[in-house]
Amino acid sequence: PQYNYILASRPADGVGLITLNRPKALNALSSPLFEELNHALAQFDEDDGVRALVLTGSEKAFAAGADIKEMKDKEYSDVFKAKFLENWSLVTQIRKPIIAAVSGYALGGGCELAMMCDIILASPTAVFGQPEINLGIIPGGGGTQRLTRAVGKSLAMELVLTGRNFTAAEAASWGLVSRVSENVLDDALAVAGNIASKSAIAVQAAKEAVNIALETSLTEGVRYERRVFHGLFATKDQKEGMAAFAEKRKPTWAHS
Ligand code: HXC
Repeated sequence: PQYNYILASRPADGVGLITLNRPKALNALSSPLFEELNHALAQFDEDDGVRALVLTGSEKAFAAGADIKEMKDKEYSDVFKAKFLENWSLVTQIRKPIIAAVSGYALGGGCELAMMCDIILASPTAVFGQPEINLGIIPGGGGTQRLTRAVGKSLAMELVLTGRNFTAAEAASWGLVSRVSENVLDDALAVAGNIASKSAIAVQAAKEAVNIALETSLTEGVRYERRVFHGLFATKDQKEGMAAFAEKRKPTWAHS
């Protein structure tokens, strides 16, 4: 489909790429933009030919936040009745892995969108932050929760209460991003291509299991993992993967 605020493409076998494309507003995440993003993510999630996704912005901005001009005159009753931002969390319902390739600003909702992805790679130019406090609000796209889980209480408090920006190097040293890369989009596409070469069913099961780690106790999480692990013995790809090892050849995945 033709989008106004994003681009969707298939740059390599098994890989879907979504590029936020609202350059005049530094990819500010307006409601129409987010609807397009959710639509594109859902389409890729349904497409059996796509097994890993990359989400990126421009050199200058991954996304400079929720659209402040769209929000500024809203009343409590408006945002309450419209369930404002509720549809943002649809990103976390996508079953295929999403790799965020972040260059430039990832502020406020932009930082939160990156944190909803499964892997974040950052260009050395990336500037992260939760500056909402400077607007008289707090993060509303999961920032207080996901940043705290990612970096711990003291740092999350400092970042959310001061609203200060932080660098790609800081984010990497805290484990918020997995690495800093000069060619962040190429690198993200390479990681996506690598993941797309695995069994899609195993990849989706693995994503689900890692995410459970952030939701539950260790005992429950390990029990969940074992159940899913057992379940994978009902797949063609478990048979193929182990047969290929024994026969010293490469597996050919059925993705089922
Ligand atoms: C609406 C925005 C925007 C935003 C930038 N623009 N960020 N519009 N919402 N979040 C617009 C500017 O108004 C301007 O439009 C154009 O993009 C270029 O931005 P400039 O400010 O001129 O660029 P620059 O001087 O390079 O500064 C870049 C910047 C600054 C430091 C990123 O734009 C900035 O501080 N933006 C806001 C960052 C922020 O506070 N984000 C959190 C938003 S709150 P014109 O028309 O003037 O050219 C949020 C809530 C989250 O995200 C809770 C829900 C998830």
